[in-house]
Amino acid sequence: MQATEKAQLKIRDKEVELPVLVGTEGQVGIDITKLKQQAGCTTYDIGFANTASCISNITYVDGINGVLRYRGFNIEDLVEHCSFIEVAYLLVHGVLPTAAELKKFSRYLNQHSMIHENMHHFFNGFPADSHPMAILASMVTSLSSFYPSLTHKDPTFDITGARLISKVRTIAAFSFKKSQGEPVVYPRHDLSFCANFLNMMFSSPVNPYEIRPEVVRILNKLLILHVDHGQNCSTTAVRLIGSARANLYASISAGICALWGPLHGGANQAVIEMLKRIKNDQRNIKKYVDMAKDKNSPFRLPGFGHAVYKNYDPRARICRKMCDELFGSLQTSDPLLDIARELEHIALNDDYFIERHLYPNVDFYTGILYRAMGIPTNMLTVMFTIGRLPGWIAQWKESTEEESAKIFRPRQIYNGPTRLDFIPIDQRKKA
Ligand code: ACO
Repeated sequence: MQATEKAQLKIRDKEVELPVLVGTEGQVGIDITKLKQQAGCTTYDIGFANTASCISNITYVDGINGVLRYRGFNIEDLVEHCSFIEVAYLLVHGVLPTAAELKKFSRYLNQHSMIHENMHHFFNGFPADSHPMAILASMVTSLSSFYPSLTHKDPTFDITGARLISKVRTIAAFSFKKSQGEPVVYPRHDLSFCANFLNMMFSSPVNPYEIRPEVVRILNKLLILHVDHGQNCSTTAVRLIGSARANLYASISAGICALWGPLHGGANQAVIEMLKRIKNDQRNIKKYVDMAKDKNSPFRLPGFGHAVYKNYDPRARICRKMCDELFGSLQTSDPLLDIARELEHIALNDDYFIERHLYPNVDFYTGILYRAMGIPTNMLTVMFTIGRLPGWIAQWKESTEEESAKIFRPRQIYNGPTRLDFIPIDQRKKA
């Protein structure tokens, strides 16, 4: 990317000119890569909240206007017209697939959906109450022992990417079956990606699962909504580990661990837990809203607020609508959905949330939708992971293919003690 403008910076007795990069959507970034040499200083930006760590062609997020696009396509169009694997192809390859390309990609997904028989033993070693995210992260790291570990610029990337997308879905369903003490259900070549997952989760030798097209449709949409979101915490973890030239499995495993956190993808589980608490606490919604506003309490409303969106998260808007679609077609209801809607209404009319631009994020309604499909609460972040994988793979590929790729190495502003004289142990006093 060529700089066409310059920014001036004056610091102490030095004046420096810094190149200004302008993205295709008009985003302006001051290039400070040479600042240390030019002015002998660094920049300070806690949590990198206003720092672009890369130049990327993958996902565009406009947090002020609530816009999200993958490879230039609006999320609303992709959710309406595509399957999850079509969008996965778009992310990884950069273009929408032709019918023939999609067929080939589906074939890869089918061919690589099984996991090595020796890996089955691993499931038995985990305690029954293990969190499925712990199992998933360990199993994904283990994949590098069983399958060729892709480093960068590998011609077999297509197969490894498909292998990972397919196997993570299988591992997720197997870990659920193991937690239930039930035999695992193998993937079937005649089923689509999402139908296969539901079948592996809910079918049993005594009770075959009835695959309902409306549930499959919603699952496709949900996974599409999770696919990518720029340089968030987990994607940055994937890029960071990849920057050390670690293999794809190790990098993705780091992303899984980051996503697990309740401030990130783990928020969908936290939302359902909070809604259950409210239901069992005499449905006292206001109590939880007040607690979230109380600066003496560490509690925050999970599923509310976003580092980038200062407007309604477009993904949350789609999920809100999908609740009507799914509950209508299943002819069922969920008391947690009513609580969520009331909670949203109260928060959106409260000055605290209005002043801080806090709106529901993607995690606010997804848990309720997954619950309606029968997905248990501790599997919710796993569902997010299955959806996010194509994004991580695309981001890993983009970052490792860059000619000028550098290892991530942020600076710090040291604020500890200056040089101290060493004190031998027998002369040290208790602090
Ligand atoms: N409940 C109550 N107050 C909140 C919330 C919330 N959910 N989110 C932010 N605030 C308040 C903060 O306390 C702060 O108030 P102050 O200005 O009086 O100190 C103000 O809003 C700004 O908050 P920050 O922490 O600066 O916002 P940031 O953009 O850094 O944080 C985050 C974003 C982490 C998502 C935050 O909104 C949050 O903790 N939300 C709840 C967890 C959640 O839903 N995470 C999922 C995000 S989506 C995703 O990762 C897939």
